Amino acid sequence: MEPKKVLYSAIQPTGIITIGNYAGAIANWLKVQDDYTSIYAIADLHALTVRQVPQEFRQRALSFFAQYLAVGLDPEKSVIYFQSHVPFHTELQWLLNCYTYVGEMTRMTQFKDKSQKNADNINMGLLDYPVLMAADILLYQSAFVPVGADQKQHLEITRDIAIRFNNLYGETFVVPEPYIAKQGARIFSLQDPTAKMSKSDPDPNAAVSIIEDADSIMRKFKRAVTDCDSVVEFREDKPAISNLLTIFSAMTDRSVESLVNEYHDLGYRRFKHDLGEAVVERFAPVRERYLKLMNDKGYLSEVARQGAERAGRMAYKTVAKVKRKIGLVQP
Ligand code: TRP
Repeated sequence: MEPKKVLYSAIQPTGIITIGNYAGAIANWLKVQDDYTSIYAIADLHALTVRQVPQEFRQRALSFFAQYLAVGLDPEKSVIYFQSHVPFHTELQWLLNCYTYVGEMTRMTQFKDKSQKNADNINMGLLDYPVLMAADILLYQSAFVPVGADQKQHLEITRDIAIRFNNLYGETFVVPEPYIAKQGARIFSLQDPTAKMSKSDPDPNAAVSIIEDADSIMRKFKRAVTDCDSVVEFREDKPAISNLLTIFSAMTDRSVESLVNEYHDLGYRRFKHDLGEAVVERFAPVRERYLKLMNDKGYLSEVARQGAERAGRMAYKTVAKVKRKIGLVQP
């Protein structure tokens, strides 16, 4: 039997994990945990490219880790770990830096965007961010990386670096491909249905977290923007209600069509109320497991330690191979 291919993903511990992240990506990860050797990292080193308040940062990173477990990623099946616990990431980053051109990095759209937003802190990490991401992916000989539109360019440069290295030294890295989920809903902001629901939207009413309490979820759906008329219909010129229908469908596995049949003439108020309840119901067990996990820091650190150990064993092999190929003296 062929060994399973590696699927790699990471999330920065900033903002909140939203129901959009869930519907667009995480729900699918849960389904493919048996099909791939899946690796899920908390990309805490990437998050350092913008200033973090140490106490909050530590708490949020741990919270994200607990949310991964609470939502159903299984540490027996998948490798779940903190990027900063495996020093090979930054080691490979350095090695790959020497095969990456400054011009390639200054041209990255995200670098340009973030430089504008953080004009007072355009640090080397911000510039080198894509190489750390390339190291993340290439360390594990990953075949697939699920990426949204905003990370596509980073995966492209990862492929370029891998191919460049392979051409110089012979087959060393698996060249990763974007992973396109078989199904996945694109969910937009509750306050602006033309913008993707973002984990770091400054407007707290724009996004719902997967561990949010019931009252707050109900309130946010009540306040969700709607379109001018009051008919529940999925139509291009009704982006707000269409978005809410997408969410309702993703959370209940009911088709948009059957929801429209039921709610067409019942008005937005009733629709949003029932949608809120469906979301509450869907995530209540996640929230409950999450709160339990956060009360058991010993368990969390043990799972994190085991994850880092497994990741480290895989990563070590790649770094050793790279060093040998480059011509560093074997230790
Ligand atoms: N840069 C990604 C983001 O902000 C997070 C990330 C870090 C990542 N390393 C990765 C994603 C490796 C996929 C693979 O969304």
